[in-house]
Amino acid sequence: MNDNNRIIVALDFDNRADAMTLLDKLSPQSCRVKVGKELFTRFGPDLVREVQQRGFEVFLDLKFHDIPNTVAKAVAAAAELGVWMLTLHASGGEAMMRAAREALADSDHKPLLVAVTVLTSMAEEDLMAQGISRATEEQVQRLAAIAQEGGMDGVVCSASEAASLRRLLSENFLLVTPGIRPAGDAADDQKRIVTPGDAVHAGSNYLVIGRPITRARHPDVKLQAILEEISGN
Ligand code: C5P
Repeated sequence: MNDNNRIIVALDFDNRADAMTLLDKLSPQSCRVKVGKELFTRFGPDLVREVQQRGFEVFLDLKFHDIPNTVAKAVAAAAELGVWMLTLHASGGEAMMRAAREALADSDHKPLLVAVTVLTSMAEEDLMAQGISRATEEQVQRLAAIAQEGGMDGVVCSASEAASLRRLLSENFLLVTPGIRPAGDAADDQKRIVTPGDAVHAGSNYLVIGRPITRARHPDVKLQAILEEISGN
């Protein structure tokens, strides 16, 4: 992968001013930005445009999951908005993912489509309650394989799953990993954390990092330190 801009900063704020204050301290040459459900629900496409006007590419993390036609229309709308990457749920099925891919066929701008496999908040007993008796890791692998078959560009996964998925999936299939913590940082509510260097070493292409950067006294300095850590990998 030639893209050296591997860090995606999670813009997890409940207000616009804090989000923009953070962006004032960061450079679009050093990171991209993830806009999720809270910020998007509050401020909508205008906020995405504002982020883009500052030069940042946007990862729109709305995790689409619906009938194929509805997801295709949502993906086309996101493409019009010019987002760089977006998420949908692999559990929506191969037909849904194919419809999403086909929705971009005539689009001048084609966002990268990445699928969420099993939410990390789901324990094995939650899968069991849904009639899925296989181990979580196996379910993740199965959904990732369906995502690849369905024409996705990659999956979102835990960095601890990256090495096994990298072996299973094609070389250019993207692995996007949250749950990253530089050594010595607080884990916050993350259960299984991996350092930036280890995530890249395991095969992760893009690292989603929130609080270690957004809560740092000097977010730009913190981002630079992370970039230096991964540049050796
Ligand atoms: O602040 P932190 O680095 O933990 O934020 C990580 C971002 O990645 C958040 O936006 C969070 O919702 C998201 N995420 C995650 N773990 C997952 C999937 C997404 O932390 N398994």
